[in-house]
Amino acid sequence: MTLSERDKLHLWHPLTQHKLKPDHLAIVKAKGTLLFDENGKSYIDAIASWYTCMYGHCNKQITSKIKEQLGRLDQVVFSGFTHQPAIELSEKLMSILPNNQQKIFFSDNGSTSVDIAIKMALQFYFNKNKKRSRIIAFEDAFHGDTFGAMSVSGLSVYNGPFEEFLLTVDRIEVPNQNNYKEVNLKFKDLVSKGEVAAFIYEPLVQGAAAMKMYSPELLENLLQVAKENEVLIIADEVMTGFGKTGKNFASEYMIQQPDIICLSKSLTAGVAPMALTSCTQHVYDAFLDDDLTKGFFHGHTYSANPLACAAAIAGIDLLLSDEIQNKIKTIHNKHLKFKNRIEKHAKVKSARVLGVIFALDLNLKMKRYGNLRDKLYNFFMEKGVFLRPLGNTIYILAPFTISDEQLDKIYTVIEKSLEIV
Ligand SMILES: Cc1ncc(COP(=O)(O)O)c(C=O)c1O
Repeated sequence: MTLSERDKLHLWHPLTQHKLKPDHLAIVKAKGTLLFDENGKSYIDAIASWYTCMYGHCNKQITSKIKEQLGRLDQVVFSGFTHQPAIELSEKLMSILPNNQQKIFFSDNGSTSVDIAIKMALQFYFNKNKKRSRIIAFEDAFHGDTFGAMSVSGLSVYNGPFEEFLLTVDRIEVPNQNNYKEVNLKFKDLVSKGEVAAFIYEPLVQGAAAMKMYSPELLENLLQVAKENEVLIIADEVMTGFGKTGKNFASEYMIQQPDIICLSKSLTAGVAPMALTSCTQHVYDAFLDDDLTKGFFHGHTYSANPLACAAAIAGIDLLLSDEIQNKIKTIHNKHLKFKNRIEKHAKVKSARVLGVIFALDLNLKMKRYGNLRDKLYNFFMEKGVFLRPLGNTIYILAPFTISDEQLDKIYTVIEKSLEIV
């Protein structure tokens, strides 16, 4: 039996209706920007395996650090113990995070980093005996699939069964040139009642909403109002973090800095599942008390796993290297040139670029996971490029290590795909 056949016996895949999609391609190997299936066919990983493997797959500079760490300390309880990789990682993070950040709380994935951020914000006010139990989030936001993260996600098309169990969330539209006055007014109205604990957002790019981008100036206005009203600001940088927007963190495009930041995905260079929620000293101080119950009683077994920390340290070293910083600029410039060319195409409604993120919207109505979307996906895979269109949006978020030739191939394949829709 092939791996794909054996898969069907026991495996249940994420985000999948198995009745409609019974088959899963088996990937047996990955190297650099390439994935290899069990028949030996290769695919350019043009979305860096959901924005994780930004330094290429099985990068020796990362894997060698993990191997070294594996010979020293594999795993230990992080409640009551500490260790060198976690300490070193926290120090490295402090050197690149917005400078109001002071404390790091580890978890396992983007969704848990968001749940933790929400719990921190709610308990921050609980500990101060202030009743603030509402959260503001954007429409079309995606923050993950655990209950807290689901609650603040506006893209809840598939969350129907859980809606009655979710947190109390007020939603505002993402500001744009047409609606920003109304959005600001609604935001001011919501926060003026003194019931809002936090405002959570994906800074500048809403990934799952099909790489929807919005302006730093318009976000800045909201952050300013949040600060004035003591609403904690939570930046979900799970997708945007670590260089993808052209700066280490998208929050750097704004003056107002978040109280809490969520990070995961390329935090560990795509090698190990790990996440973290960072916060300011001000947030942390609200949990310091002689009363035990005012502490933050949240914990995951694999918190700060030493192997994941070693991968993250190596990843940050790579991110800061001249080589990767230059690659980020090169990819950005190539994307801009492609955008200028492709946006004139009759089948393209609009195109946008931020850092290494490129997205175009087709001039067509398409279901998020409908037949036409599948036709495009299959076309890309047949041509050896792994891209996952989101409805009528085709986007690229390739590893920083991609070559010019590979990037040109992705562009050509996207251009060709316009002939089949
Ligand atoms: C902005 C953002 N937040 C949170 C998540 C959830 O992360 P995870 O899938 O690791 O739970 C995602 C995943 O795509 C994301 O893009």
